[in-house]
Amino acid sequence: MHIDIISIVPDLLKSPFDHSIMKRAADKGLLSIDVVNLRTFGLGLHRQTDDYAYGGGAGMVMMCEPLDACISELKSKRNYDHVIYLTPDGKTFNQKTANHLSCMENLLLICGHYKGIDQRIRDLHVTMEISIGDFVLSGGELAAAMVVDAIGRLLPGVLNDETSALTDSFQDNLLAPPVFTRPAEFKGLKVPDVLLSGHDRKIDEWRYEQSLKITKERRPDLLDD
Ligand code: ADE
Repeated sequence: MHIDIISIVPDLLKSPFDHSIMKRAADKGLLSIDVVNLRTFGLGLHRQTDDYAYGGGAGMVMMCEPLDACISELKSKRNYDHVIYLTPDGKTFNQKTANHLSCMENLLLICGHYKGIDQRIRDLHVTMEISIGDFVLSGGELAAAMVVDAIGRLLPGVLNDETSALTDSFQDNLLAPPVFTRPAEFKGLKVPDVLLSGHDRKIDEWRYEQSLKITKERRPDLLDD
């Protein structure tokens, strides 16, 4: 999979993909990521990329021309399955969307700043709008990093244990059960006997019951889906 990310602060996206599972994905040739500096397409001597909002009000708007030039150049080199704009007024990102996007070949992500991007870029180019939650970040970069991470770890071959993504929270609309590792007793707290029993079916049942219990307590909405 290839992902291009358009940003006015590309440095913000330098490190998130250089470690751990994302690095492994890149090293194995399963995921390549390019961060494109929108400033290169900025207007005039100052490489302007934003301007005052028509109609007034506080906050700048990211201009059409630099974004259109940048997106058009990228589109001339690659066919994107989706052009995704990260924005708090997008559809809330979840595991289902991550699963869906992990099946794509090429994605283009646009990081907004200030009051967002000119609506005409959304009308002309954007095919999907994603929010990572009901709060406002100062830019789309951290949201993009989260979305790429959630997608990247699902690509076949990225995780060592192929089944481990399938047992993540949310994959069955259930939160994950508690996990334990050595020692079997720590500060008087014991690992549940069933996990030490070696009885696979009983362990699976226990984990499922725990998942159900925790989901009922913390996220009953997931069980309505
Ligand atoms: N940009 C600013 N806030 C955001 C959010 N909550 N989700 C996605 N992009 C954003």
